Amino acid sequence: PLRSVILGCGAYLPARVLTNEDLTRIVETSDEWIVERTGIRSRHIAAEGETTSDLAEAAARAALAHAGVAADEVDLIVLATATPDQTFPATATKVQARLGITRGAAFDVQAVCSGFVYALAIADNFIKAGQARTALVIGAETFSRILDWTDRTTCVLFGDGAGAVVLRAEEGEGTAADRGILSTHLHSDGRHHDLLYVDGGPSTTQTVGHLRMKGQEVFKHAVVNLAHVVEEALAANGLSPADISWLVPHQANLRIIESTARKLKLDGSRVVLTVDHHGNTSAASIPLALCEAVHDGRVQRGDIVLLEAMGGGFTWGAALVRW
Ligand code: ACO
Repeated sequence: PLRSVILGCGAYLPARVLTNEDLTRIVETSDEWIVERTGIRSRHIAAEGETTSDLAEAAARAALAHAGVAADEVDLIVLATATPDQTFPATATKVQARLGITRGAAFDVQAVCSGFVYALAIADNFIKAGQARTALVIGAETFSRILDWTDRTTCVLFGDGAGAVVLRAEEGEGTAADRGILSTHLHSDGRHHDLLYVDGGPSTTQTVGHLRMKGQEVFKHAVVNLAHVVEEALAANGLSPADISWLVPHQANLRIIESTARKLKLDGSRVVLTVDHHGNTSAASIPLALCEAVHDGRVQRGDIVLLEAMGGGFTWGAALVRW
């Protein structure tokens, strides 16, 4: 059977860094409060005029270079974002054009913070079905553009950035010993819309709107849903928590990540953390974290890597990968 091997990954972060100290000059907050409640110390913010497609293109180019794959080999681009350049066309098609690609398909996926896991699952299924051979999967966000900078309960939590991976179809045995994506697991439950949403959009207010969140409620759902989906992913592959080399979680909040690690009885040294210097970059957070751990040599060939995320919708999901 066909399976998707991750050939390489790339990342891009805007140059401007906004620290907690900087935020105290914008809203009534403190470094202590933000660090204690979230683990965040700083985040990157896109420059004026710098768009999601700019971030995505830079991450995509870095991923292709790391993978040693030429842009014209790509026959599928799946880009996860909740902050597209425009309502349409899809940001994925803008990236496609800038990479000089004119064949195959390119489209966006909207699952907010779970977007990268959703995009990875979609690309993996295209590859398994034989409909694509080389796929670019991108998570790219400019959440700074949809934050209410007068609301201290949300504006301190998010940052901008992009990450990407290159997938290639390979023949495998179909067992957990194979290199590549072992399985993906997606869930959603639309009943909790009011806990996390943007209060604008083309067909409601005809404005872009701002992110609104009941943080404590989201926190409770995240902890429960992530524990379930992580269990589901391990069981599907006959693996136990001890088999996990690296947990690469969506980086929303240190306390949510620690709760998942605790349930898996995973030592903190096997959890990849970037929330302290990236904040929550929504769909970009997992590929950014993965990239950091791959490029600094933590993630090694043969390692089992568990990706998991939960976001607006609610949506949540997990992917198990043998690197
Ligand atoms: N600085 C200082 N004080 C603040 C700030 C701030 N930035 N924000 C809120 N406070 C105050 C509140 O007003 C409140 O004060 P009060 O007690 O006088 O009313 C107090 O701090 C406590 O507020 P809580 O909301 O109860 O704080 P909590 O411990 O729940 O932490 C947080 C808030 C960090 C948002 C937490 O609930 C959380 O992380 N939730 C999960 C959110 C999340 O991960 N979202 C991303 C999901 S993914 C996606 O799709 C976007």
